[in-house]
Amino acid sequence: MRGMNLPLRPRRNRQSAAVRALVRETTLNAGHLIYPLFVQEGTRSEDIASMPGVRRHCLEDLVAEAAAAQALGVGAVVLFPRIPDAIKTPLAQACHDDAGLVPRAIRALKQALPELLVITDVALDPYNSDGHDGLVAADGRILNDETVEVLCAQALCHARAGADWISPSDMMDGRVGALRKALDGSGFEQVSIMSYTAKYASAYYGPFRGALDSAPKAGDKKTYQMDPANIREALREAALDEAEGADVLMVKPAGPYLDVICRLRAATSLPLAAYQVSGEYLMIKAAAASGWLDESKLVMESLLGIRRAGADMILTYFARSVAARLKEG
Ligand code: PBG
Repeated sequence: MRGMNLPLRPRRNRQSAAVRALVRETTLNAGHLIYPLFVQEGTRSEDIASMPGVRRHCLEDLVAEAAAAQALGVGAVVLFPRIPDAIKTPLAQACHDDAGLVPRAIRALKQALPELLVITDVALDPYNSDGHDGLVAADGRILNDETVEVLCAQALCHARAGADWISPSDMMDGRVGALRKALDGSGFEQVSIMSYTAKYASAYYGPFRGALDSAPKAGDKKTYQMDPANIREALREAALDEAEGADVLMVKPAGPYLDVICRLRAATSLPLAAYQVSGEYLMIKAAAASGWLDESKLVMESLLGIRRAGADMILTYFARSVAARLKEG
């Protein structure tokens, strides 16, 4: 009976590991993780100066890294290519070359690891000599509809090579619908679209651009990536992506945008992904390297927080190491 002045004691539900396990509200397991992997030409892999602990893989090492992650329970990878400067052009034609690096990487992965879910990034920045996700007009404007046409060619190229999901990260208007139409029109109805729905113009992408040498040559990405100040706009993007046929929506970055994850979770019945980006990775690595914070605890807590906010799946550079730790128990 209430009103007896008995102290209420929430700590009873925390008093042993067994109780805590029973009342735990959020889980994190390797199956929730997507592992972003960098790939480069040639027969050697390299450390990435801007992302300590992450490598750009040659094809052979790419397959080995994906296999190791898969053996630990990580079911999906997403590929990011380092394209040599010599083949970057203003029209980014190399992005839909069937003999290009990404199609070769997809085929190598699919041949060696048929059960692995292979996701590709659809955007022009690694291929574009201007370093933008879209085509750049003479006056510096980013051309929306012209870009979407190239993105469709890029997605079809990835689908022909065997990609399971394609993931547009460019933030052009109307691209999800155009990609769905292009894929269906070529017999790729089974290829899913994970859309970067709320991708913010973020300083947290710095280390990634260093890894791919893909920073914009002029200007910034603020005319297509979202203003970090906005959340209603994320709901609008989500409604559009859903209407255009996206299979999975994404919020990026993750940690500084937990409120956006939470709001989108409530606004859509689609699965939701969140991308713990390179800058979030680097901040944890830097704090751990200085001895100030405990890396493994910090990683777990950051990922659990993203799950608690409402993400079903998380893209994280920690995927392999986290999966290894989860396996140890
Ligand atoms: C580019 C792309 C970026 C990232 C994923 N795809 C960078 C950008 O938009 O400039 C960032 C990922 C990360 O920082 O880890 N289409």
